[in-house]
Amino acid sequence: MTADLAPCSALLDAMPDPALLVGPDRRIVMANPAARELFAAPLVGASALSYIRQPEPAAALERGWAQMGAGQPPAGRPAAPIEARMIQTTPTGETILRVSVAPLLAAGILPAILVTLRDISQVEEAEQQRRDFVANVSHEMRSPLTVLAGFIETLKGPAKGDLAATETFLDIMEREAQRMTRLVSDLLSLSRVESEERVRPRTQVSLSEVLRATLAALRPQVEDAGLSVDFQDLPDAPTIPGDRDQLVQVFHNLIENALKYGASGDKIEISLNRVESLPGLPGPVLKVCIRDFGDGIDAIHLPRLTERFYRVDGHRSRAMGGTGLGLAICKHIVNRHRGRLSIRSTRGEGSTFVVSLPIS
Ligand SMILES: Nc1ncnc2c1ncn2[C@@H]1O[C@H](COP(=O)(O)OP(=O)(O)OP(=O)(O)O)[C@@H](O)[C@H]1O
Ligand SMILES: [Mg+2]
Repeated sequence: MTADLAPCSALLDAMPDPALLVGPDRRIVMANPAARELFAAPLVGASALSYIRQPEPAAALERGWAQMGAGQPPAGRPAAPIEARMIQTTPTGETILRVSVAPLLAAGILPAILVTLRDISQVEEAEQQRRDFVANVSHEMRSPLTVLAGFIETLKGPAKGDLAATETFLDIMEREAQRMTRLVSDLLSLSRVESEERVRPRTQVSLSEVLRATLAALRPQVEDAGLSVDFQDLPDAPTIPGDRDQLVQVFHNLIENALKYGASGDKIEISLNRVESLPGLPGPVLKVCIRDFGDGIDAIHLPRLTERFYRVDGHRSRAMGGTGLGLAICKHIVNRHRGRLSIRSTRGEGSTFVVSLPIS
């Protein structure tokens, strides 16, 4: 490297994103460590187009040279950004990169093009999730609204004055309105829980009391399900830093799920235990296991269960008034408590949901 390139090289090396300097013959003059790692090659001396091969970023590079040839941008003025999207396939998957091309015309530097590559995979994934979320919410809202609009029309037209039909239809309309109310309140709850996820809870909570209160509130559902509940308490369990209402919400959903989806078994088991250490969690934890003996869940569904709106059997969940948001809310609350939610299940034998929460 010649002496006048040394400052350029130091700058490039200090950049966190992969960066290349490309000379007029389209060969790579310089590459920083991040770029060498990205392409797993020494790069210097190679043709830039053998690494930036896709049509869109290759064209961006040529546009950069065209600008340079036309004396653009005039020295001292910022160039209009030239950007392109590039997909880099690695043995571990795909990385989506934003390629930015900047002609360098400053006096004293060799004519060259600075190419920087930024990994935007996570940004694109987040955008995709947001689009999916909006589509899911719209879809979930549309079906009760369609039912309501249909029955309103029937009540105003063909069924006008028919008291028996009116009563039946009003019952259905009430159920659909309740479903929408639940959906909206779950969505609000999810957004609140998400926005608070980084704020650590400060109050001390007794999990034993939380579980007993939740079970008392769920007594009617327990009776309807006809299941027996075996609660193995830990009376001298220490309190943990927690948000009581949110923890009630977690165990309410997990026990309600066990009652709803585990109804083919004859009981559910709930236990509270102290465990001195669990890999990945700091210090001793309190572990709550909620076990049902129902149909269980196929292994392929387990990693996706805590995604918003993910249901194993959408039809069955909706028929039971579920929104598919319960476990997503649970996951955020458990994260806020620096704890862990894990799920074990065997098809035909039942499921166990385990919540582990640090004691301090
Ligand atoms: N104990 C369980 N046994 C079998 N499947 C379960 C169990 N718990 C949850 N699931 C499956 O996971 C899905 C997601 O559960 P989640 O609690 O998030 O939503 P939901 O119960 O359908 O709706 P909501 O919680 O809003 O009432 C359920 O629809 C069901 O298919
Ligand atoms: Mg649920």
